Amino acid sequence: MAVVTVTEESRSADGWFVVATSADVPPGQIVQTFLQGQELALWRDTHGAAQVWEDRCPHRGTRFTIGRIAGDQLACAYHGWRFAAGGHCTYIPAHPGLTPPKPICARTYAVRERYGMIWASLGSPESDVPVLPPFADGAGRRLFCRSFVTRCPADEAAQQLLAQTDHRYRAIAPLALVGDTDTDATPVLLIQPMSEQRSILHLWLVTHDGADSDAALRERHVTLIKTQRSRVEAAAAALAQ
Ligand code: FES
Repeated sequence: MAVVTVTEESRSADGWFVVATSADVPPGQIVQTFLQGQELALWRDTHGAAQVWEDRCPHRGTRFTIGRIAGDQLACAYHGWRFAAGGHCTYIPAHPGLTPPKPICARTYAVRERYGMIWASLGSPESDVPVLPPFADGAGRRLFCRSFVTRCPADEAAQQLLAQTDHRYRAIAPLALVGDTDTDATPVLLIQPMSEQRSILHLWLVTHDGADSDAALRERHVTLIKTQRSRVEAAAAALAQ
């Protein structure tokens, strides 16, 4: 398997990064998250297609995440301007007869939905979302455990996890790590770069035939990742001093 480096690509604006699990963004809800310091509003149109927008109305900067979804459009909470899935403004309540000029547009970002996760890019990615072999068809059943906000930047968290010796990981994409396989499951960590200070570890398992119950698997691996997260945060704190 090719050696994957985590540092440079994880900071690129043109990379694809996980921003939420698919289940985190149910139809009808606007969900806030962060990618590389950018505040984002995630939502779905009536076809279920995920949308990733800057969490800021282009009129007066109100957060879209306090607005509402109206069919295939997002309505700002402040003056009620509506924006369609491509980001363009479709309706201004104070001027109901006006066709909003094209430049009035919410900022939208590239988005994909794959492996039970929503991926986004703040730039212009030239390639597709990375292929994650542990999630290939027939490899086993994919089971989501939990997401952990971590006080450590994403690339540093990945480096710290890769440096562990008691529970080993290897990188399969810039911010995707696969852990040691035991008799029940293979852990897969997808790391979301929230900001210069924080990241989110999204923990998945690929379960094997005859594995323990989902609840038991989750409990075991969540306990493990909490310990690992503590080490990562301690290392990041020490580096910052
Ligand atoms: S701030 Fe959004 S419509 Fe005015």
